[in-house]
Amino acid sequence: MQNILVTGGAGFIGSNFIHYLLKEEPDVKVVVLDALTYAGSLENLKNLPDPDRYIFVEGDIRDREMVDGLMRQHSIDTVAHFAAESHVDRSILGPELFLQTNVMGTFTLLEAARKFWLVENTFPMDQVRFHHVSTDEVFGSLNPEDPAFSETTPYSPNSPYSASKAGSDHIVRAYAHTYNLPVTITNCSNNYGPRHFPEKLFPLVILNALAGKDLPVYGDGQQIRDWLFVEDHCEAIWSVIKHGTPGETYNVGGNNQPTNLSIVQTICDLPMNFTQTNILRDAA
Ligand SMILES: NC(=O)c1ccc[n+]([C@@H]2O[C@H](COP(=O)([O-])OP(=O)(O)OC[C@H]3O[C@@H](n4cnc5c(N)ncnc54)[C@H](O)[C@@H]3O)[C@@H](O)[C@H]2O)c1
Repeated sequence: MQNILVTGGAGFIGSNFIHYLLKEEPDVKVVVLDALTYAGSLENLKNLPDPDRYIFVEGDIRDREMVDGLMRQHSIDTVAHFAAESHVDRSILGPELFLQTNVMGTFTLLEAARKFWLVENTFPMDQVRFHHVSTDEVFGSLNPEDPAFSETTPYSPNSPYSASKAGSDHIVRAYAHTYNLPVTITNCSNNYGPRHFPEKLFPLVILNALAGKDLPVYGDGQQIRDWLFVEDHCEAIWSVIKHGTPGETYNVGGNNQPTNLSIVQTICDLPMNFTQTNILRDAA
């Protein structure tokens, strides 16, 4: 795998993935495709380990002609697909964009990959991979006594966001079965870490605490989700791309399910042995 198209690479997880890849893999070249919506920022792609192996293209994953052109121009053999509308609350306010981006955008990328790799027969099939980055929210929510989600948990999405991600998972899976497109899917739990958008729980708590503002705890704060450090997620994705079986789905999680309240308390209890500048930089 040499020439990797990373969609959504200016967002939270996509940008961490690019930092990880350029640091860990000396031979890969990365083409980033990102529409730079409110969630994407070129700030996230500053100070890359080896910037000469990276190209940024501003564009929409739904633009088929442009995606076709990128695949051909850069001889793309791997797609790592992160681009999405990803914020649950925003999906409740405006679901249409979520369906457009997450379902139709994924479909457009799949069609471009199918044409370039299968119809035009550009590479041996064991040298290409379409990796779809998805979420464990497609499985619904967990009660404290429930077992963790597994790859066989039935889909039960509860928001327009998770329903649109579930739809994209199904269409990716269908391309494996129908066309033998070499795809893999990862369904991961909540991530935290550097370059997290400030409206999300961890950075919001940190920034509000530093500014002496109220901390965002909904209800009694007893809601539970699994949390994973973003670099561990990136490592898992790259491992699945390199070693995963085409057609398979892999769940990724931290086996770490604190309540929201305990997350807030843990952050407040952190020793202040690092500077405020560092916290702000890492939270942003
Ligand atoms: N954040 C999490 O905790 C988490 C957990 C599991 C899975 N995921 C999945 O990982 C992926 C990345 O999540 P994130 O938190 O980094 O999201 P994010 O919102 O931070 O980033 C999404 C990126 O996609 C770009 N984008 C949006 N629409 C686009 C379009 N039409 N064309 C091109 N680019 C577009 C945005 O500009 C942004 O840079 C998503 O698919 C999400 O469903 C996220």
